[in-house]
Amino acid sequence: PTIYVITPTYYRLEQKADLTRMSNTLLHVHHLHWIVVEDSVEKTKLVTYFLETCGVINTHLNISTPREKRLRGTELPRGVLQRNAGLDWIRTNLDPEVDEGVVYFADDDNTYNRKLFEEMRYTQRVSVWPVGLVGGLKHESPIVKNGKVKGWNAMYMPERNFAIDMAGFGVNINIILNHTKTKFSYSMLPGTLETSFLTALGTKIQDLEPRADGCTKVLVWHTRTEKTKIEKPKDGFLKQYKQEQFADV
Ligand code: UGA
Ligand code: MN
Repeated sequence: PTIYVITPTYYRLEQKADLTRMSNTLLHVHHLHWIVVEDSVEKTKLVTYFLETCGVINTHLNISTPREKRLRGTELPRGVLQRNAGLDWIRTNLDPEVDEGVVYFADDDNTYNRKLFEEMRYTQRVSVWPVGLVGGLKHESPIVKNGKVKGWNAMYMPERNFAIDMAGFGVNINIILNHTKTKFSYSMLPGTLETSFLTALGTKIQDLEPRADGCTKVLVWHTRTEKTKIEKPKDGFLKQYKQEQFADV
């Protein structure tokens, strides 16, 4: 089975560094197809060149988040249209009769252990595992008893049906292909994208497949890259040190 990794990404100073770190992990994983969806009106040179040279088999898509849906404070979820574009690609290009695989929504700033991908590869329906450094905890985790998920170890909205971060689950492509309409939506509040999506796919808690040694190991962390502050250079400093030589691409 192939792992289809859907990654929304948007321009900021740290974008290329985050994508580089992520690609260096994905390079260790065989039969993986990286679907990178830029939040931009046009594909940027930066991401185009990056993907051409990163060594990971990939598909480059783009769709811009409209201005009124851009984050103000924290009331709107991020990466919604980008993940949906990735789902559209999967539904257009994969055939349930022929293709086998799993879909994983992997944000560009998280930290992934390459072993995580082998945990999810043989997902029958939906696999789940712990996520580190998220929701005000060292890790959020499904609670597993006798090999079955019985609930959620979460502090943030623990009453959710699936109290899990985007990085904490993988879905068999057949489920995605059978549910032709299921996608993410702005009517979902931040923190409820995952539970709404999994519910809409018809997921039942008793069907979840706990991975990572019965959800006892952390193989992905919800790290967030610190925003870099660039100082204004002093007069004359840049005369010889031409910034153009360090163009983003
Ligand atoms: C948390 C969750 O881990 C995300 O899966 C969820 O989408 C997000 O909250 C949310 O509230 O919507 P967080 O670290 O706060 O994640 O979000 P980011 O990493 O900033 O963004 C999630 C993804 O969307 C990233 O891959 C990012 O590159 C992308 N993004 C973000 C865009 O494509 N456009 C944006 O304007 C912002
Ligand atoms: Mn993030």
